[in-house]
Amino acid sequence: MHQHQNKIDSIFKKDLSVEDTLQAVCNYLQRSVPNYDWVGFYFKNGNKAELKLAQFTGKPTEHIIIPFGKGICGQVAVSNQKFVVADVTAEDNYISCGLDVKSEIVIPIFKNGENIGQIDIDSHTRNAFTKKDVLFLEKLCSKIEFFLLNTAK
Ligand code: SME
Repeated sequence: MHQHQNKIDSIFKKDLSVEDTLQAVCNYLQRSVPNYDWVGFYFKNGNKAELKLAQFTGKPTEHIIIPFGKGICGQVAVSNQKFVVADVTAEDNYISCGLDVKSEIVIPIFKNGENIGQIDIDSHTRNAFTKKDVLFLEKLCSKIEFFLLNTAK
């Protein structure tokens, strides 16, 4: 994951807008990390109890708005905990984005202790996400917090 860390760091250093930075992160991860077939960011939609899709790379999804508590994403919005799903067919509270998706990982993004959103990654491979992915993506989410706190854009 080291080469990916370096590449991600270089994206943050480019001084792009928040939107362009997060889009570049999605593009890089989806194109460069094996098994990351759909990569997107959901953020809290204003003061509503729902998530709204922001930047993503991969097949367009109809799930632009996800109410808190619904699906893997909505559960993470409420629990503030990462959620790694080895086999999506084993989940009751799951929103399908296509039959090709077999596993999923969602990591919350915090800003000053508040859960403001998440990175969501789908894989066409069952059990695609390991502890290494969790650590890598948790680091990424910390970098996003730092970036958000340090950019006025
Ligand atoms: N599978 C997610 C919905 C979002 S899509 O994966 C893009 C969920 O259950 O919350």
